[in-house]
Amino acid sequence: QDSERPGLVLSGDDQDVLLMQKGTMMRKVRSKNWKKLRYFRLKEDGMTVWHARQNILKCHKCIIISISDVETVRNGHESEVLRSLAEEFPLEQGFTIVFHGRRSNLDLVANSVEEAQIWMKGLQLLVDFVTNMDQQERLDQYRWRGWDCVNNRGDKNQDGRMSFHEVQRLLRLMNVEMEQEHAFQLFQAADTSQSDTLEGQEFIEFYKALTKRVEVLELFGNFSADGQKLTLLEFVDFLQEEQKEGDHASDLALELIDRHEPSESGKLRHVLSMDGFLSYLYSKDGDIFNPSCLPIYQDMTQPLNHYYINSSHNTYLVGDQLCGQSSVEGYIRALKRGCRCVEVDVWDGPSGEPVVYHGHTLTSRILFKEVVATLAQYAFQTSDYPVILSLENHCSFEQQEIIAHHLTEILGDQLLSTTLDGQLPTQLPSPEELQKKILVKGKKLSTLEEDLEEEEELETELEGEQEPELEPQFESETQELSPRSKDKNEKKSKAILCPSLSALVIYTKTVSFYNFTHSREHYRFYELSSFSETKAKNLIKETGNEFVQHNAWQLSRVYPSGLRTDSSNYNPQEFWNAGCQMGPSVAMNVQTAGLEMDIYDGLFRQNGGCGYVLKPEFLRDTHSSFHPERPISPFKAQTLQIQVISGQQLPKVDKTKEGSIVDPLVRVEIFGVRPDTTRQETSYVENNGFNPYWGQTLCFHLLVPELAMLRFLVKDYNWTSRNDFIGQYTLPWTCMQQGYRHIHLLSKDGTSLHPASLFVHICMLE
Ligand SMILES: *[C@@H]1O[C@H](CO)[C@@H](O)[C@H](O)[C@H]1NC(C)=O
Ligand SMILES: *[C@@H]1O[C@H](CO)[C@@H](O)[C@H](O)[C@H]1NC(C)=O
Ligand SMILES: *[C@@H]1O[C@H](CO)[C@@H](O)[C@H](O)[C@H]1NC(C)=O
Ligand SMILES: *[C@@H]1O[C@H](CO)[C@@H](O)[C@H](O)[C@H]1NC(C)=O
Repeated sequence: QDSERPGLVLSGDDQDVLLMQKGTMMRKVRSKNWKKLRYFRLKEDGMTVWHARQNILKCHKCIIISISDVETVRNGHESEVLRSLAEEFPLEQGFTIVFHGRRSNLDLVANSVEEAQIWMKGLQLLVDFVTNMDQQERLDQYRWRGWDCVNNRGDKNQDGRMSFHEVQRLLRLMNVEMEQEHAFQLFQAADTSQSDTLEGQEFIEFYKALTKRVEVLELFGNFSADGQKLTLLEFVDFLQEEQKEGDHASDLALELIDRHEPSESGKLRHVLSMDGFLSYLYSKDGDIFNPSCLPIYQDMTQPLNHYYINSSHNTYLVGDQLCGQSSVEGYIRALKRGCRCVEVDVWDGPSGEPVVYHGHTLTSRILFKEVVATLAQYAFQTSDYPVILSLENHCSFEQQEIIAHHLTEILGDQLLSTTLDGQLPTQLPSPEELQKKILVKGKKLSTLEEDLEEEEELETELEGEQEPELEPQFESETQELSPRSKDKNEKKSKAILCPSLSALVIYTKTVSFYNFTHSREHYRFYELSSFSETKAKNLIKETGNEFVQHNAWQLSRVYPSGLRTDSSNYNPQEFWNAGCQMGPSVAMNVQTAGLEMDIYDGLFRQNGGCGYVLKPEFLRDTHSSFHPERPISPFKAQTLQIQVISGQQLPKVDKTKEGSIVDPLVRVEIFGVRPDTTRQETSYVENNGFNPYWGQTLCFHLLVPELAMLRFLVKDYNWTSRNDFIGQYTLPWTCMQQGYRHIHLLSKDGTSLHPASLFVHICMLE
């Protein structure tokens, strides 16, 4: 297992990487009390780090970290755990490895500042290297690795021949997962000398047979006159007829040949070989997700309430809602992933400092000012668009003043503390106008109009020592505070909202909801209401059209109902259909992988992952006739034909079971308005995860495609129990490309399952 892969080609000045390959002892820190010395070493391949109890040469019981799983490296100052040990170890000696998905961070302390620097710089270099590799380079790397392995390493005893055992080992090194029986058949076919070993050309034939894509070859043959290459015109035909690329197909064809044709002479002659064709189909250009939806492509100058906003719920919790740990890590993760609305539950804390935790539960506490400092640091690292800080204030008058003080002092210019131009607007400002601003969402004593008047008065009268009017405010947000609001006997503390905090609420003032008529008559565009999941569902059923119209001029937020103490998420689609913006927020910090999270990520992957997605036009009109439960269709109904052709390298579900092979089937699920929500599946292919072929066509009729999300789910058929999850990919209908496309599958926690993919043909008919 522990044999070396050929190393990455690194330039000579990567001293850091070379030193990492020598290995060193470092302290691994899990908590204030758990800190142990471990030996860390970067393997020669530059792609894996292993750590073990001691300096060992062979990795037996060691833990392996793949560079491709690492998202980034942070310095010690940013880790709570390391900060708690600052007296023991200087923070400069510490650093944190942050992983993709929901794997927890790894905190480390090196022996010296220099050593910490070496590891931080070196790791970041490797991570950048891996993330900058695009699909093509990865493919090349596999191929290149393959040939290198053949020459140097696959052939263990260096006799120029490879036994089946050596071939299997080599495939594993090349990350080609392969069913033994299938591989053995190909091995025997390639062994023309019948020596039970492969040599030279035999191995090349074997590798070609192994990676052959029959269905792609046939497609290529259908468009290529000589079966060897696609001429420019042939390729343009393909792009127009099958891929529905339309008028720009000619320009696109040249661009794609330049990007994907491996041979220089092919590039010069403007032709595409089979290798180039496969590379195109497997790349971002051939992906089911339209690459033009990846960057920020939507109009960002519309009022805030015209967008769906990526929102997180119980942001401070890492773990479950009743006894989990509160941590600023929750905020860092949410903000770094483009989440634009975070929640803070603030309570009176000791020595006058407000604290954040989930009230009346056993969750641990963090200082409010630490949360604000985190916000100041991370709010705009991933997206420039505004962050809404949803403040659930349970504090006394005195500590509310501290809250206002911290917000003003720590956030400085980032805090939006007055309307944009000091004037009273008639609608909410746009994400564009609010760039790099943090908006406080909470209660407010006055209206914006009064605020502005007061400001004017202050300016003219200079020292007008007026007392702001104090209205007693009840904590009427009880309906917002899930589990404990069930407790009717609980004393509702009568707290007075402090004017300095109230003044920081500008465009996102929370108000109680009675009915839509009441909102229209009494509320303003900068006021917003929260709805429990159940309440929102009822409103959609009973007065869905009014809800749509309401959301075309005000923001609304839907929060999970209190019964879900396990922090599980709920299906956001229903609320998006009605135009709720801070719709269904998700608890993302916990292990809540699954359908809901997949749909959520699927929607927000578009538009640069910036956290804002423009709603369809019929949800942005205050006179809209759209009813999410009874959609009549002026909304271009469509028929969608999906041919599920084949699968590539689907991983084993249970890797511990040697030789267990999957029986894969594909289920296509549509989420949208109720009549559109449906699913269909293919039959299963027995015992083949390597290159299963289905060739089955599924057909869907959609009333409101603009709201539809598609989820491709691959499962392992099991007649005795529920089929096991293998991988999935979810995307909005509006971001889907037609024609022959690959779908690159994701794991349960949203990380890449590369090289696992599906090959499909998509066709839309009016
Ligand atoms: C290729 O063309 C044949 C004959 O028209 C057709 O039956 C087949 O489905 C085509 N194959 C692909 C992959 O398009
Ligand atoms: C809406 O709510 C207000 C306030 O509770 C109430 O006075 C009014 O009768 C309600 N209107 C409707 C149509 O239910
Ligand atoms: C949206 O936010 C969630 C957490 O709320 C995060 O997991 C996800 O990655 C974000 N999606 C995108 C594409 O920004
Ligand atoms: C099917 O599921 C059962 C129960 O989870 C399990 O014991 C069995 O091994 C599975 N069969 C296969 C072929 O994976």
